[in-house]
Amino acid sequence: MLTEAAGAPRDFAPPGWPKKVGGVEVANPVWLAPLAGITFSSFRRFHRALGAGLVHTEMVSALGLIYKGRKTKELLYGFDDERPCALQLFGASAADMANGAEIALSIRQFDALEVNMACPMPKVTKKGAGSKLMEFPDEAAAMMSALKKFGLPVWAKVRVMPRGSALTTEQFCERLFDAGADFIFVHGRTPAQRYEGTASREAVGGVAAMFPGMIGGSGDCYAPEDFADYLSRGCAAVLAARGVLRDALLVPRALKLLGAPVPDGFCTQSPEAQAEILLELGRNIYNTEGESLALMIAKRMLGALFKGFAGAPKLRRDGAMVRKWEEMEKLLKDRASCESSECGAETRH
Ligand SMILES: Cc1cc2nc3c(=O)[nH]c(=O)nc-3n(C[C@H](O)[C@H](O)[C@H](O)COP(=O)(O)O)c2cc1C
Repeated sequence: MLTEAAGAPRDFAPPGWPKKVGGVEVANPVWLAPLAGITFSSFRRFHRALGAGLVHTEMVSALGLIYKGRKTKELLYGFDDERPCALQLFGASAADMANGAEIALSIRQFDALEVNMACPMPKVTKKGAGSKLMEFPDEAAAMMSALKKFGLPVWAKVRVMPRGSALTTEQFCERLFDAGADFIFVHGRTPAQRYEGTASREAVGGVAAMFPGMIGGSGDCYAPEDFADYLSRGCAAVLAARGVLRDALLVPRALKLLGAPVPDGFCTQSPEAQAEILLELGRNIYNTEGESLALMIAKRMLGALFKGFAGAPKLRRDGAMVRKWEEMEKLLKDRASCESSECGAETRH
């Protein structure tokens, strides 16, 4: 197994690292983003073992914790070898945020407390949370101050302010820093863009230039070069998000480009290697979170992992029909053990 062979997380460090970023000691600047429904424990562990400098929980409802929601509490579940791990909370008021954080920290330790001010989805914004907070800088700032009492680094994740807003992105971030924020991620899309269109690296770079060492970049990180680009624009860390669903080895490949001593075996993109790595991730999820999540992630990733290779459409179609993890195992094992005589003819389009 690629990740199991070396046991505990590998802290691949490019030249000049490890460093303290946002108050947390990290081996490198390539971090796993918060992804709702995806960055549960085994997904986080997998990417830590592949070298991610830090991982995120998905956004967790502060109110859900306060109302003792069983499903909300389950989102906190995890292992110490995932750390450093940031807990991301969402909510509408500083009081909820502080109460939610207190409950979370009574269950498990995290390395940073982060407030989601970026989610553009109506089910979150209509409650006054997520990117809605960008319209309420006083409450957003109060959240930063309220979380300081836990003695952990306090972070926020924001989006680019729409044109015509009362504050610029820089001014909004300044309010958060003045209130005690230790680090802010900027996703280079406005809330109205949701996940469409292009993320503006110029906008993220502009904020990073104003707050050196204090800004993380997010948006359209699909190739190792994207991470290097955000860093060259002054970001202190970069989030791997949808990119890891298309390329399971994106994190180690980005680290290699940045000069970290990552073995070649972590960077290959052959269909056999992709099948092996998806098998490994799926088995980890199956053993920790169960069959339905293992199948959900495997099906989601199958669509993109083998793009450009002959046989990929059939593999995706067959994968979509699978109902049991053992069937998915067989499908991926057949793919992984595909003899070179058969696979050799395949070319990337
Ligand atoms: C399925 C999905 C779930 C997400 N969940 C969260 C979340 O829980 N918290 C958050 O701050 N951002 C969330 N995001 C946003 C990502 O962290 C990231 O900022 C965004 O996808 C932009 O990066 P990308 O273009 O490289 O994917 C989510 C994005 C997607 C696609």
